[in-house]
Amino acid sequence: MTVATASYPIENSLNVKRSVVDTVSQTSSIVGQILGQRRSVKQFDAEVEIPDSDLQDIIEAASSAPSAFNIQHWRVVQIKDQDIKEQLHTLAWKQPQILTASELLVICMDVRAWDKEKLPFCHAPNQEAKDKFKSMLTNIYSNNYQLQRDEAQRSASLFSMSLMLQAQAKGYQTCPMSGFDYYKVGKLLKLPPNVEICMLVALGKDSEGNEKAKKTRVAADHFVKINTF
Ligand SMILES: Cc1cc2nc3c(=O)[nH]c(=O)nc-3n(C[C@H](O)[C@H](O)[C@H](O)COP(=O)(O)O)c2cc1C
Repeated sequence: MTVATASYPIENSLNVKRSVVDTVSQTSSIVGQILGQRRSVKQFDAEVEIPDSDLQDIIEAASSAPSAFNIQHWRVVQIKDQDIKEQLHTLAWKQPQILTASELLVICMDVRAWDKEKLPFCHAPNQEAKDKFKSMLTNIYSNNYQLQRDEAQRSASLFSMSLMLQAQAKGYQTCPMSGFDYYKVGKLLKLPPNVEICMLVALGKDSEGNEKAKKTRVAADHFVKINTF
């Protein structure tokens, strides 16, 4: 797969001539390292605390994730209460991450975010653009619950992945989780009718060194098809 074929001189702050190809490969190797290091951690060091400033940075960085029409369907429930944590633990088949993680974030999605006055239109410059946008979104999404939910899942999943990568970049480990009773957890968190759960993300420091374990993945030629499936 060719990443970049163009090679023309650019100048960095020291006025040293470099090529675009160098810049691209340098950037992708940093992202590649973070992608390669990320592992789903099963057991965290329960003594570790994540400073609020780190958590805020992780969440804010994650919100740069793309979403259809920039609707930003994601909503985050941060679980701080020990009693709720313990109930969640029971509803998640007693997986140890729930009680050992430094932070537990339930990544939710507002399935009707496209219908809200404020968020989807935050980049519309004026009322006319807002109205146009609103009628377009109504045409596309109203009466199509499956599409509303699919779009929300896509956006909230990209948010979740961005969150895990930023956490990894800041020296923490994570575990994405869907192994819990969605219905009962939704009730426990008092989710309004338009909000559903995408996944749970546990964050902290790996206590077992799992992040160093080798990743097992099938080779790309197994899943990449050219032109048609
Ligand atoms: C949607 C989703 C749900 C998952 N649910 C759980 C879970 O409930 N418990 C768990 O230990 N791991 C869970 N995982 C982690 C996967 O087991 C893990 O991503 C996979 O084995 C690949 O390993 P890696 O993430 O370390 O590369 C989940 C991952 C995803 C994407």
